[in-house]
Amino acid sequence: MTYITQPAKPIRKAVFPVAGMGSRFLPATKAIAKEMLPIVDKPLIQYAVEEAIAAGITDIIFVTGRTKRSIEDHFDKAYELETELEARGKADLLAIARGTSPKGINFSYTRQSEPLGLGHAVLMAKALVGDEPFAVILPDDFIDARAGGEGALTEMIQAYKTHGGASVLAVQNVERSQTASYGIVSTTALDTLNEIVTDIVEKPKPEVAPSTLAVVGRYILDADIFSYIENIKPGAGGELQLTDAIAAMLKDKPVIANRFTGTRYDCGSKLGYLQATVACGLKHPETRDDFRAYLKAAS
Ligand code: UTP
Repeated sequence: MTYITQPAKPIRKAVFPVAGMGSRFLPATKAIAKEMLPIVDKPLIQYAVEEAIAAGITDIIFVTGRTKRSIEDHFDKAYELETELEARGKADLLAIARGTSPKGINFSYTRQSEPLGLGHAVLMAKALVGDEPFAVILPDDFIDARAGGEGALTEMIQAYKTHGGASVLAVQNVERSQTASYGIVSTTALDTLNEIVTDIVEKPKPEVAPSTLAVVGRYILDADIFSYIENIKPGAGGELQLTDAIAAMLKDKPVIANRFTGTRYDCGSKLGYLQATVACGLKHPETRDDFRAYLKAAS
């Protein structure tokens, strides 16, 4: 069964709001971007960009702030490094350095000068997105695709197409004690992986949360979301909450919740970051065998 039947426009653009303060990672994030913290040898932001490109995204839009210059440099050419690696005949390292900015992918940047909330950060991308549906990816929610599976955004775009261009939120069940850290949805049944969102609330206390189905850092949004953001008032924490704009939009437009496969790590928290590091260290071809032996001996 499909939820609505209008033809779905292609999703070409993804917005990466990376202007937050990263205060849970101080002092590491005093001078560098949280999104540049590496999981083994790759910064968080690169995993997220690779997930987007694998899903067919061609336009990467970063909403940055001060202290985030390193993100721009990471996705740009590094002339001195590349010349040096070339001169030394290090073809493999040169390919890695060049691989951060693949051909055919456009990178653009806009600034959020004050961290006024995720909704406000997304609004900063309005002119670059224009009038087409788009993805939003929060890179500190790192989603490791299940073995042989597609990335989370690829699965969401599939849901978007199947359900005629509805907005899509990535969701997973969390412990009831954790609801105050998430946007929590109320839903009705749709199909095995997707549900129709009937309400969404930002960071409800466990005793009042309508469910334990939490939105994590992936969204596919109708371009109308911008006018809903423009019309909401500051919510939880005095910030413009994307959740509040989605709550307003779903009264007029279809929004579905997609249970992505794969494992999500909250790399905005120290524990989630360590868990992701261990999971990736156990998969990385250069480290997996020795790291497994090390963990075994240490436990
Ligand atoms: P977080 O809630 O994780 O906030 O934001 P944060 O500032 O990054 O980290 P802490 O809580 O201080 O440790 C979720 C996402 O929204 C972006 C962040 O960069 C992150 O990707 N964000 C948040 C903005 O871009 N602007 C904002 O005003 C708020």
